[in-house]
Amino acid sequence: MRISDPKIVARLAELHVELQPGAALAGLTSLGIGGTTDLLRIKNHEGIPDLLNLLDSNHIPHKFLGGGSNLLVGDGELPWVVLQLVCPEAKNDLGGMEGLIGVPGTVGGALRMNAGAYGMQIGSYVREVKLYRAATRKIEILRGHQISFEYRHTSFAPDDMMLSVKLELPSKLFKDILQGIRICNEKRRSSQPLGQKSAGCIFKNPPGASAGRMIDDLGLKGLSVGDARVSDRHANFFVNAGRASARDMLALITEVRERVQKTYGVELENEVVVWNA
Ligand code: EPU
Repeated sequence: MRISDPKIVARLAELHVELQPGAALAGLTSLGIGGTTDLLRIKNHEGIPDLLNLLDSNHIPHKFLGGGSNLLVGDGELPWVVLQLVCPEAKNDLGGMEGLIGVPGTVGGALRMNAGAYGMQIGSYVREVKLYRAATRKIEILRGHQISFEYRHTSFAPDDMMLSVKLELPSKLFKDILQGIRICNEKRRSSQPLGQKSAGCIFKNPPGASAGRMIDDLGLKGLSVGDARVSDRHANFFVNAGRASARDMLALITEVRERVQKTYGVELENEVVVWNA
């Protein structure tokens, strides 16, 4: 269904509704099925009552579309327009964290390790952290400047428990954030063994060097102890290729560390946290 009356089109604009004429609904559903109709994207929630009055008084039937993931839409030109919310509440145009896309884990874990990737680290954005301090047995709030965030290391005590964090993120256009996310996703997919069980990088990078490249250059990709294996994709990722035990993994770590030490004279430091009884 098409809205052609110029008075209605003008009123939609006043109500901050973006009219997309003849939108293909196939692209808005997870099934990828559906015909065409006018799509009305609502940018300002306050205007919704007026919008619905406008449609009703002009006898324009409508349907309301969410994520389109449980929906089978008919083919051809459809006899109703479709309304969709543009959700500003979930998209605040705050950037800076794009590098961490795809990193599994919790916000607390990311804080503790000062997780980072692709030129950013979470510590740079921390305004304050609420934590339970085992040392004082109290819930405390630390300001960002009271915490030191270094490369995969922080001043949090091992028994501090992160409860919440306030991050101060720079304003960035949502489309630029998405673009950054896409780039990081692609880089990660092409260089890391995402489908396999791993703990990310096993060793920290020594200053000015890459542990992954060093291990790779030694030809150690595929080196295994039991089912613990140096990834074929990224040599600083060690994967559990089946039923690896901690013992297997620790033996592999020791073996690789020794070989790197022997050739490069560099002692690689663990990046992975080891809880060994
Ligand atoms: N390289 C190889 N062979 C390999 C792996 C890497 O030649 O098997 C080369 C790459 O071609 C590249 C260089 O080594 O020229 C660096 O590799 P990459 O870009 O993959 O980065 P990285 O230094 O190995 C670090 C972090 C990652 C983070 C990436 C992206 C550490 C220990 N690792 O890896 O973080 O995702 O940069 O920013 O700092 C993690 O913390 O667990 C982790 C995976």
